[in-house]
Amino acid sequence: MSRQFSFLDQALIGADRSLKTLIKGSARAARATPSGRESTADQQQRRHIAGLMRINHTGEVCAQALYQGQALTARSPDVKQAMAQSAVEEVDHLAWCETRLHELGANTSVLNPLFYAASFTIGAVAGAAGDRISLGFVAATEDQVCQHLREHLEEIPADDEKSRAILSQMLEDEADHAGKALAAGGQVFPRPVKRVMTLMSKVMTSTTYRI
Ligand SMILES: [Fe+2]
Ligand SMILES: [Fe+2]
Repeated sequence: MSRQFSFLDQALIGADRSLKTLIKGSARAARATPSGRESTADQQQRRHIAGLMRINHTGEVCAQALYQGQALTARSPDVKQAMAQSAVEEVDHLAWCETRLHELGANTSVLNPLFYAASFTIGAVAGAAGDRISLGFVAATEDQVCQHLREHLEEIPADDEKSRAILSQMLEDEADHAGKALAAGGQVFPRPVKRVMTLMSKVMTSTTYRI
């Protein structure tokens, strides 16, 4: 059954979701955290792994903001529906990364509210530009996330099964999200647009690795 939400309803739901994204410990995963053996990495290596997991966590904060911004302005109910399942899986990713950071004795990024606001705006603008562009943007973003995840999986030591299990499941999900966005009618973005997106993601990865 579907129901129509008023603007006020939507604003309240949006505010609730943004708080759940930004307040520590409030994201609840629907699926159990992928797991494995705990790493025997030394202090320095653990710090490096935590830096990578912090990047991934902020990436998931951005994903929340992007999907929410897009849902606010998406035109067709079908598109909203098509993206709903992906958005739910993103909550799992957010919670899993936070859990792993906690286990590594590290914090989430202090810059998260900033990246949330920026991604929400980009999502809303993309959504307002029409469903084809908006879905294309999701596909291009997910492609980029997949690339980061593959790089991180190469860097994280084989014995850190916990981090690797999380990133492997995320990689599978993100590739699926990209495919769904294209299948729902998303436009394949030209290379120059993707290059600008890569540049923007460099700002995020280079800052959140540290803080
Ligand atoms: Fe994700
Ligand atoms: Fe995703």
